[in-house]
Amino acid sequence: MKEATRAEYTAADVDALNEQLGGKSAEEIIRWAGETFGPDIKAASSFGAEDVVVLDLIAKTAPEIRIFTLDTGRLHDETYKVMESVRTKYELSMQTMFPNTEAVELLVAEKGYYSFLDSVENRKECCGIRKVEPLKRALSDAKAWMTGLRRDQSVTRTDTPAIEWDEGNGLLKVNPIIEWTNDDVWAYIKENNVPYNELHDKGFPSIGCAPCTRAIKEGEDIRAGRWWWENPEFKECGLHD
Ligand code: ADX
Ligand code: SF4
Repeated sequence: MKEATRAEYTAADVDALNEQLGGKSAEEIIRWAGETFGPDIKAASSFGAEDVVVLDLIAKTAPEIRIFTLDTGRLHDETYKVMESVRTKYELSMQTMFPNTEAVELLVAEKGYYSFLDSVENRKECCGIRKVEPLKRALSDAKAWMTGLRRDQSVTRTDTPAIEWDEGNGLLKVNPIIEWTNDDVWAYIKENNVPYNELHDKGFPSIGCAPCTRAIKEGEDIRAGRWWWENPEFKECGLHD
């Protein structure tokens, strides 16, 4: 395994890094991330279509990059199936983060199993406990992180660059497929025979927790099935705010 250079970056480096890497291919960005950070960069994977593409590129280009997933305790069985297929197919370092037991016990005791339906505040509280706090723990031993974000996924992501400064976690955030379209993602999956979540074939373009994700109808926005009872501008769970 390549020795990490342990490069230290700050918010001030982001513009120059985007100049350097902005127009580069996903493969080149991932190679740069592997060479720069080694195992000190961790890729966040929900095993959705974008994330299995990033995983496949990591396996082929920079397998020293570590992978982690946030198991909220509310995922679909189909998500566990693709996690298992990926785990057995690739020789990558994969870590599963679970929510803090006491926090979940308290939330359920005080507010029940579906508090997230009652208000945006309650929904963000659940995402905070089940996703954001475990994300912070996952990143506590990292110098940078990587995502499968794409710019055209949502109104909240139209200005997202390839390299960002994640203020909340105090880390560089690398988005290698930020410029890809949905068609680019699916062409890659098919050409490279990448395992994917079978819910994608059942009308689920974007997959999160089971009670907060539904299939979409033809012509609907690709994130219309996520927290469908909320306005589009609220549809972030705190991982990427
Ligand atoms: S979310 O914020 O609305 O849930 P989305 O599903 O679009 O996010 O995924 C965007 C990126 O966030 C993914 O490419 C992945 O990097 C990260 N991500 C989302 N959910 C998880 C998860 N459960 N575990 C790890 N990473 C995740
Ligand atoms: Fe809770 Fe829904 Fe957020 Fe999952 S997506 S953590 S179930 S509010």
